[in-house]
Amino acid sequence: MTPAPDKDANGASSLGAAPVPTHVAVIMDGNGRWANGRGLSRSDGHRAGTENIRRIIRAFAQHGVKHLTLYAFSTENWERPTEEVGALMELLGEAVRNETELLHKEGVRIRHLGRFDRLSPRLQRAIQKSVELTKRNTHINLNVAFDYGGREEILQAVRAMLSDGVRPDEVNEGLLEGHLYTAGLPDPDLIIRTAGEMRISNFLLWQAAYAEYYTTPTLWPDFGEGEVELALTAYAQRQRRFGRVAPAEVR
Ligand code: IPE
Ligand code: IPE
Ligand code: MG
Repeated sequence: MTPAPDKDANGASSLGAAPVPTHVAVIMDGNGRWANGRGLSRSDGHRAGTENIRRIIRAFAQHGVKHLTLYAFSTENWERPTEEVGALMELLGEAVRNETELLHKEGVRIRHLGRFDRLSPRLQRAIQKSVELTKRNTHINLNVAFDYGGREEILQAVRAMLSDGVRPDEVNEGLLEGHLYTAGLPDPDLIIRTAGEMRISNFLLWQAAYAEYYTTPTLWPDFGEGEVELALTAYAQRQRRFGRVAPAEVR
């Protein structure tokens, strides 16, 4: 299931003929620190972070990225203060209700990755509506990881296989992948984390096996088009080997 090394070289953008990642995943971190630095509440930080999303989708789409996955709420984020969790739920609902129409016009296909059952019925309905409305769009695929955890994702896949009566010898990478929330999506080529932390925080544990990592100290609400370009430029300079030896190194 490992992609061929040249699979990501899917065309040009303003970066010239540099290879563009097919799938970019972003750990949008630093909303709290952004707010703190301004004497605002953490919820104000999340609002600014949510407002940043629109321009980032556009920027990646313009560069030819076909799949963009945004980590918006982890299975561990439920442990935050009730007020903050409430604000994050409210913001997602608002974003889905207010932005879907425009994203649809721009050809964005929206998908949700993660647990659905712990979201409020109202939020579930809003997400379902926007997934349904945009399902035939092809400009860019936007996957919103909300109540998402990599370990939880693998566990629910194992449970689903067991309850389907899958035999041990039938279990392989393809079958497992077909039961993940990301079924049908290519693995991420590039994972970006804002706000400087150097950890994965339970994001795409299975899918990230050969992803390139990029971190920046910039806090998520400040991560703009220029930063998108910097991340893609850094990616274009990486040499991906997938465990093999690069042709030029064979002697
Ligand atoms: C990221 O910003 C958003 C979520 C995790 C929901 P944080 O809220 O984690 O911001 P910091 O890390 O406290 O600055
Ligand atoms: C990761 O950020 C989760 C999201 C961005 C949604 P966190 O702020 O929750 O991660 P940790 O706690 O610093 O590892
Ligand atoms: Mg954080």
